[in-house]
Parts: sequence; C-alpha cells; structure tokens
Amino acid sequence: MSKLRIAIQKSGRLNQDSLKILKDCGISIDNGKDQLKAQASNFDLEVYYLRNGDIPQYLRDGVVDCAIIGENVLIEKGTDITIAEKLGFSKCRVSLAIPKEQEYSSLNYFKNKRIATSYPNTVNNFLQEKGISVNLHKINGSVEIAPNIGLADGICDIVSSGSTLFKNNLKEVEVLLTSEAVLAISPQLTSDKKSLLSKLQFRIQSVLKARN
Ligand code: PRP
Ligand code: MG
Repeated sequence: MSKLRIAIQKSGRLNQDSLKILKDCGISIDNGKDQLKAQASNFDLEVYYLRNGDIPQYLRDGVVDCAIIGENVLIEKGTDITIAEKLGFSKCRVSLAIPKEQEYSSLNYFKNKRIATSYPNTVNNFLQEKGISVNLHKINGSVEIAPNIGLADGICDIVSSGSTLFKNNLKEVEVLLTSEAVLAISPQLTSDKKSLLSKLQFRIQSVLKARN
C-alpha cells in the first residue's frame, strides 16, 4: 500500500509545532536531523521537509498529498488548495507597518508609496480593492529592515509577537488578514490515500479537542 505523504516546514516557526502535533497523534517519526524525508514507524506516513513557499506548488502537483502550512501562504499563492482543518497554532497577522514616527490616518497614506513585502498578491488584492496603487518590492525575508535602509516607505509582513516591528522602529497600521497553521490537501489526492488521510484527520481532531 502506498503511504500518505505530508509536507511540513523544513525550518522556521511551524516546524516544531507541526512535528509536535504529529507526535501527539501518536505518530513516531524516524528523524535523522538533516534528512529532507522521514518515515513514520507506526503509521503509513512519509514526512517531507520543505520550504514554506514551495509547499503550495508541491500540493498542486500532487508531489505531496497534504501539508501543514500557514494559511497566509495559501492565501498568497494557494487559493486553489483546500483547507481540511485549522490547527490552532502559529497564529499571526499579515499587516502593513510604517516607521513609527510617521503620522497615519488612513490607507490613503500608502498611495504611490513603496512597500516591501514577501506577500505581493495579498497586498495587491487588498489595496486594489480599495483603489490604492503602490510600488511593491518583493523580498523574501528580513522585510522589516527595508524602511531603515531607504528601500521602502512601509512594509507588509507577518506579525506575531510584534517584536520584529518594535526592534525596527515600525508600527502596525492595518491588519490584512489573520492566519494560523492548517492542514491543506492536494487537489490531486488519489482515492487510495483517502482512508489514510481520514485516519490522520480523525487523530488530529482528537488532539485538537483535547487541547481545547
Ligand atoms: C517572521 C516574519 C516577521 C516576524 C514576525 O520572520 O517575517 O518578520 O517573524 O514575528 P514577531 O512579530 O514575533 O517578531 P522570521 O524571523 O521567520 O524571518 P524571515 O523574515 O527572515 O523569514
Ligand atoms: Mg521576518
């Protein structure tokens, strides 16, 4: 029988909590640290450690059957992918922020401004709807540094504790969306995997109930 393939974040904020929920589901993963693929010893499951931003494409292509991923990543580049379960951890916001000494009264502030972000589609969709056009600079990490080095007038990025904004003298002025980790399903999921997925999902639901 073929195994269920699940993608989780290779490194970063979701990694530990994703492994933890699988563990709480009673699934033991044979983990050599630097391996990109690992097997569960007591469940027909293969774990793929992938870059966050690559996971939507792997789901779309059916390279993996499901994934634990931030909802924000799906909103940015995976709106075609189904969410089976919200997982209640890695809660965050995707927000616009500006230098804290700037006065801010409305979204008009951003008209024709330069915004640095890893979430160009999310920002575009949000601002276009409001009739505001901006210059977007896409960067993949350390976005909050952009205003300080003169690259942008504002940023749009994930805010969790708020400490990265604080350390970079920025203030959050608009929340575009809230997000948490979710279980996402490949649109290519084959019927032979469905019962395994249901079994995993049932265990996840039990874990979540016990956590609440
Ligand atoms: C993430 C995100 C924010 C920060 C938010 O960055 O891009 O910068 O965390 O968390 P906070 O509100 O608790 O400070 P990360 O540290 O993962 O690094 P990266 O941006 O370089 O990927
Ligand atoms: Mg960051």
